[in-house]
Amino acid sequence: MGGAKEAAEMAGLSARLDHLQLLSEAPERLAGFYREAMGMTPSRIDRDLWLCAAPERRLLIGRGRSGTLGFGAFRCESAAAVAALRARLERRGAALDPAPTPLFEPGAFAVADPDGNSLLFGERRPVEGDPVAGPAPSARLQHLVVGSDEPETLVRFYADVVGLPVSDKVLRDDSVTACWLRTDHEHHSLAVFRAPVRRLDHHSYEAGDWALIRDWADHFARQGLRLIWGPGRHGPGNNLFIMVEDPDGNRIEISAELETVNGDRPVGIWPHEERTFNRWGQAPFRR
Ligand SMILES: [Fe+2]
Repeated sequence: MGGAKEAAEMAGLSARLDHLQLLSEAPERLAGFYREAMGMTPSRIDRDLWLCAAPERRLLIGRGRSGTLGFGAFRCESAAAVAALRARLERRGAALDPAPTPLFEPGAFAVADPDGNSLLFGERRPVEGDPVAGPAPSARLQHLVVGSDEPETLVRFYADVVGLPVSDKVLRDDSVTACWLRTDHEHHSLAVFRAPVRRLDHHSYEAGDWALIRDWADHFARQGLRLIWGPGRHGPGNNLFIMVEDPDGNRIEISAELETVNGDRPVGIWPHEERTFNRWGQAPFRR
């Protein structure tokens, strides 16, 4: 297929992180945490599956090994966009499976990256009624980060096979230690960090405004939670952040002021040092 036609197709890709699935050995307890800490109302939608939902944020929690990502699910704007992405991946020999989520329309598909992380792309299935928000500030589920001992392999897959534009990279001795990729005009909706083990690094909710970071921190304090990192400001993405941890050790980020990107932005290259990951100071997880 002609590169120009394909480039035009991918330039039109406009996908957002819609939901993700976490696996847990204690899914009911985890659903309770997301109700209290994240204001997401849980409902048991299958024997071993809970949906936790609030406006602009939803998670599925399934039974499995704690701390494991079931999948990250990206919402495309139309059935045609889902089909175009599927065709691109098929031409590149990617193995695709039906998407194992009840939250997307038929036609959604799953693709596994070289580490075995499952990414879903599909059209959002309309649900009846708006989800009820619990007593927590507002924020939209926005990005997902996976840790890998072979980040360059993952980045090649996401950039060259899936076709996602790279916003920024961190290099140490010419090898990639972190990379942020985008699926629309936001600086990243997916990122890869070098890590000793392949696992979910964190997922993030964009609150938009600094004052809401304060409100989230106060809310977490009322829940008896402590911040495990931040407040700070990331170099790549320029976003303000705080982080907490759920009972399974999954890190949750609340972010604000994430950079938005115009189509022709050059890829940023950053040194592997603490101030790249936190311009305000320490970066305990990113050494
Ligand atoms: Fe993040």
